Amino acid sequence: MNFTILRFDTIDSTNTEALKQARQGADEGLCVVARQQTAGRGRHGRVWISPADAGLYFSVVLRPEIEPRYLPLVTLTSGVAVHDALAALGLAPDIKWVNDILVDEKKICGILAESTDTPRGLAVVVGIGINLRSTNFPPDVAARATSIEECLGSNAPVEARPVEAALIREIDRWYSILSDDDGPAAVLRAWTERSSYAAGKAVTVDTGGERITGVTQGLEPNGALRVEAAGGDIRVIQAGDVEMLRTA
Ligand code: BTN
Repeated sequence: MNFTILRFDTIDSTNTEALKQARQGADEGLCVVARQQTAGRGRHGRVWISPADAGLYFSVVLRPEIEPRYLPLVTLTSGVAVHDALAALGLAPDIKWVNDILVDEKKICGILAESTDTPRGLAVVVGIGINLRSTNFPPDVAARATSIEECLGSNAPVEARPVEAALIREIDRWYSILSDDDGPAAVLRAWTERSSYAAGKAVTVDTGGERITGVTQGLEPNGALRVEAAGGDIRVIQAGDVEMLRTA
């Protein structure tokens, strides 16, 4: 993939800008990076607090040429890429289904994939927020979040550029794998190897209408999570259905 980077000091949301660029015909590989976001978005309409230089705020335009049934795997592929980028920087990350990246059970990165129709076909924007430092976490977030600086215990400030470079390298690698003939299976294997949530984890899942408690039993071919509920029923949770997943 050829990567082109648009850089902003301040922007509302790198995802909003990348979606706009995609609708205007941007090529796959266009990245939007900002030092600060004034309207950073998380999943389920939540706010992603984005103070200047406290995080990497990154979005990439993708034009996946995979079977539509495998589109949810774009999200899981991104999780694997972020995982490997952070591991290369010396961290020991875990992936919580669908795509929260945790270190020591605390969230270090969130991923928001949004799709849009464009004159060139469907585009997916993958927005990635990686916490570089913890200084500006609001009190309610601080208990559940961590940052690269906190994890590495470094005295020197963590710079965004090496993190960005590792991320782009791993996105390039993993999207190329996803596009191979056996790409979906390879991504599912990679995700499963990297996530303590893949199997045998006691979880509670809120889907909006329903709360399901059970034990994880691996992924479906499209990345949906299998949960064995009390009584032995296997429930299949689609990525788009989940509002909250936590350990039971
Ligand atoms: C989540 O865990 O809820 C997903 C958070 C995604 C945040 C990133 S920061 C870069 C990109 N721009 C946004 O507005 N959101 C994503």
